[in-house]
Amino acid sequence: MQALGLFGNIAAAQSLPSLPRNFGSGKSVVVLGAGIAGLTAAYELQQAGYTVHVLEARNRVGGRSWTVRDGDRIVMNGEADQVARFSEGAYFNAGPARIPSFHERLLGYCGKLGVPLEVEINSSRGAYIMGGDGRKQRMRVAINDTRGHIAELLTKAVNQGALDQSLTPEDKAALLPFLKTYGDLDDKGGFKGTLRSGFKTYPDAGVRSFAAPPEAVPLRDLLANEQLPATLFEDNVYMQATMFQPVGGMDRIAAGFQRALKRPVILNADVQRVRNGDRKVEVAFKDTRTGAMRSLSADYMVCTIPFPVLAKVDCDFAPPVAQAIKNVVYDHSNKVAFDAPRFWEKDQIFGGISFVGGDTSLVWYPSAGLFSPRGMLLACYSSGERAARFAQLPIAEQVERARAVVEKLHPGHGGECANGVAVNWNKIPYSLGPWPNWYAGMAGRQEGTIDTDPYRLLNQPAGRVIFAGAALSQTPGWQEGAIQSAHGAVADLANLQRADAVTQPTRIAA
Ligand code: ALA
Repeated sequence: MQALGLFGNIAAAQSLPSLPRNFGSGKSVVVLGAGIAGLTAAYELQQAGYTVHVLEARNRVGGRSWTVRDGDRIVMNGEADQVARFSEGAYFNAGPARIPSFHERLLGYCGKLGVPLEVEINSSRGAYIMGGDGRKQRMRVAINDTRGHIAELLTKAVNQGALDQSLTPEDKAALLPFLKTYGDLDDKGGFKGTLRSGFKTYPDAGVRSFAAPPEAVPLRDLLANEQLPATLFEDNVYMQATMFQPVGGMDRIAAGFQRALKRPVILNADVQRVRNGDRKVEVAFKDTRTGAMRSLSADYMVCTIPFPVLAKVDCDFAPPVAQAIKNVVYDHSNKVAFDAPRFWEKDQIFGGISFVGGDTSLVWYPSAGLFSPRGMLLACYSSGERAARFAQLPIAEQVERARAVVEKLHPGHGGECANGVAVNWNKIPYSLGPWPNWYAGMAGRQEGTIDTDPYRLLNQPAGRVIFAGAALSQTPGWQEGAIQSAHGAVADLANLQRADAVTQPTRIAA
């Protein structure tokens, strides 16, 4: 395995069955929802020979993988519509906005579907952490000065014998020089500041000016900034460089799937009724433009409708399944975006994120269009309880709060942030939330180790209906989860068909 380079990579489970090209010949599937899960399932089932119809309630594909551009309308339940105004080339990924290197299935589809990718700059040492009192530090200072102080303290502890219970003399002999390098300590093991944190004076030509590090920020001051833990953000495996984004917007991925589907997605199809028969599934849907009702029947269904939306559809699932669907609690998440001149680039910030805490959490600088005159500035992205509270504010107030944080972080520039728009995912029709919180109200495991009874139940086929979506993966907030779930749905569907072949042999023969 080592020779093949398989160790050291993050392994992906393999669950997409390799089905012969005619496996689904003569069989039909209706897929509800053209988000990433629905599109993936439709694409793979089409490749396996099924006749696939995809119904999508919106007038676009992609689901939460949604890119807002100039002129686009943001429709939210209980709010006046917002019309986005962005300057040329700027766009706002209202849903997913980054792809880690190890999300190989998603990256694989981008390759297969001809979706060009570019680097998403997810962290910048030029960005800031800003405490509630408005005091801020550059990431490079916060990271390197904190490390310097900790290395100094540890060096002292080792030299004073405080760690003799834990370290052998050989360990100490190896650790001390490492700490000196790690913290950029002086010869006495002291931390007085480091060029890793920037310059007090810049190196210049000749002997006019030499490079000198800034004074070390006292450890007390670093610790007083409650955003200090955000210096570890880029160490989170989901957030580590290199990260990617499709050139031109996240919705290019859904567009790639759409191009690859032989049968066009049926848009504006609001599902009203699902009947899960012994031999067929039936779905009735309303054309949201004309009000006309239509119906379709198929051998199988892949249902990717978000559970809070599905809970309101007339379905005939068995009572435990219906109850499980009703009980899934969704989280909240908000984003606020502006169109702005690139004042942050004048402050030597090119992509990355400043962490500010509070209602709005962060300021995320665009990776696209570097050095162009204007860009999209994301001035709020939060989830959880603070997002639930924030979403209760009037939209104008949400936008103003986001602008006020930009002003605090980049004095003099809040007013340059134009055309603010807010997306509150719990109010977005046909989504009603960003992702489920399977452990709502419980102290428990979350992303990566989800295992509740309803989660298990909904991961099982319900008659001829198979549920799919990122919600049913270990990573409900990532497109990779949607693809993993869709792959699982294809496997489940193939198994249902094999079981049908045993119980209904004559029908298959016909
Ligand atoms: N996957 C989501 C993000 O990148 C939650 O923020």
